[in-house]
Parts: sequence; C-alpha cells; structure tokens
Amino acid sequence: MSVAARAAPPDPHAALRADVLAGLAHRPQRLPSKYFYDARGSALFEAITRQPEYYLTRVERALLARHAGDIAAGVGPRARVVEYGSGSGLKTECLLGALPEPVAYTPVEISAAALDACVARLRLRFPRLPMLPLCADFTAPLALPHPATAAARTLAFFPGSTLGNFEDAEAVALLRAMAATVGEDGLALVGIDLVKDPAAIEAAYNDAAGVTAAFTLNLLARINRELGADFDLDGFAHRARYVAARERIQTHLVSRRAQAVRVAGRRFAFSAGQAILVEYSHKYRDARFAALAAAAGLEVAGAWGGEADGFGLRLLRRRRAAD
Ligand code: AVI
Repeated sequence: MSVAARAAPPDPHAALRADVLAGLAHRPQRLPSKYFYDARGSALFEAITRQPEYYLTRVERALLARHAGDIAAGVGPRARVVEYGSGSGLKTECLLGALPEPVAYTPVEISAAALDACVARLRLRFPRLPMLPLCADFTAPLALPHPATAAARTLAFFPGSTLGNFEDAEAVALLRAMAATVGEDGLALVGIDLVKDPAAIEAAYNDAAGVTAAFTLNLLARINRELGADFDLDGFAHRARYVAARERIQTHLVSRRAQAVRVAGRRFAFSAGQAILVEYSHKYRDARFAALAAAAGLEVAGAWGGEADGFGLRLLRRRRAAD
C-alpha cells in the first residue's frame, strides 16, 4: 500500500478538541461537564461523594437500602439492568442484590478506567451475573450488548441526580432515548436531588477540603494534557453558586487575572473575573420532574424519598393513555 493511500489513525481527541474550541469561542464561554470524567476526574468525583457536605450520595444510598424490597417488587424478576454512568458500585450493589434473578448488568460509562473498576468490583459481589459493560457516551444512541438469557424487561438505572447536569431540553431528550432503549415494557429508576435549603445545596458544591474545586480544575488539566493547551491551573478559581430562580447550581471556572491561553493552536484571552460555565446541577420539585418525564412520554410509577429526605428515587414507565 502506498504511503498516500494509508488511512490516518483516528484522532482520539477530536470530539474534545471540537467541543472545547467551540465552547471557548462561544459567548458566554462554556465547556461540557461530561469531560470532567477522565481517570483522575472520576477518582475525584468518588472522593466528592465521601465529603461530609455532599449529601446526595449518602441520602440516595440510604433510600435504596431502605426501599430496595419495594423497588424490586416494582421491577419484577429477570430484569436486565442498564446503568447510565457506572458510578459507585455501592448503589448498584444494593439494587442488584434486591432484584429477583437479574439476567445481566450493563454499565454504560464514558471513562474506561471507571468502567473497569466498576465491573471488577461488582464481579466479586455477583460472580454469576453476566456483566456486559459498554464504554460509551450515554447521551449518544446506545448499541447495547445482548444478554445470553432473554430478559423479562430492561431497567435503566440513572442514579446520583446526573439528570440534573442537563438542561431541561437535553434532559427530556435523554429520558426519551432511555425510554426507547428500555422499550415498551421497560422501566427507568432515576435519582433526583430535590429543591431544599440553598445553603445546604451550595455547601455540597463547595466542600471545605477543596475536593470539588480540584475536580472542576482537573478539566483544565485534562485539556492541557490531551489538547496540548497551556492553562495555568493557579490562574483559575472554582465558583459554584445556587441560583434560586433557576433552582440549580451553576459552576464556573473564573480567571483570577488577565491572561492568554493557547489551546490546540488557538489563542484565547481572558480578563480578570471572566468566567467559563462548566456545569449545571439542577434541583427538582416533583411537579417539574413529572413534567420532564411526561415530555419524554414517561410517567412516575413509584416514588421513594421526598422533601424530608431532600432526595428522591423515581420509577418511570411508558406513559399510558388515560382510560
Ligand atoms: C454527577 N453529578 C450528579 C454531580 C452533581 O452533583 O452535579 C457532579 C458534581 N459536580 C460537582 N460535584 C459533584
């Protein structure tokens, strides 16, 4: 084969480069939060879930433990479980341990390191359960691996209030895609952080140990490494504020001074105080969540956790026509 005919190897950073360049050229500037989760970012997120201020994981895990029997009864036997984001094995363990005869577990995760760690952990706990991991961006259409044993139904498991990282239109699109993935008789178990005292919410995204700040700034370290950029990590600060009118945390990386940064051969100038939006974390009220689900053709079939808990687990099914 001639040199000219040889295909160029695919560029593993093409999507990151395109999204980062587009996001930095956009006004106001923004970077997609899905890029937080390289190996270090995933490890930092796991560390966030252990911070005393970050109540979300603790409360959701307690809800799962408390209501596992009810949830399992709502799902029924021989389910295939598809987890959106492999997350902490502890929540999954609780769910898989409660379900009667699950036929397969498919974690879908963008970070290969996090996916491998999740499967390794769960294999120890459920040695006979087929693990069919999928390394993919779950916001894109999914080609799920087929289990050897036919499942009675598919359950999408989307814990952690990760739905809150999407704007409403994206959240609806994601729920609609999830509904298509699980099919007519499928279900989705979704964890949602609920609207509560703004101080408690804000503290969860500004832990005293600075783990969330390190997690946010790691996005710049990743861009430096993978795109050959020269962000000075000390030149940017993490800022997470709760905006009550929008019922969401808005996280920015704020330039501490006037500076210029080179990214993939392009120069971007920052003034002191200039902010790049890097994440939304929406908090929900039941009516708003039900409206999002309805827009995706789904309805709430089971609910565990409410205002007193500050977090909820909601079981969704295909919306049924009114009788
Ligand atoms: C994954 N996601 C639900 C987390 C959240 O709470 O929005 C990500 C996170 N960002 C900062 N702390 C945690």
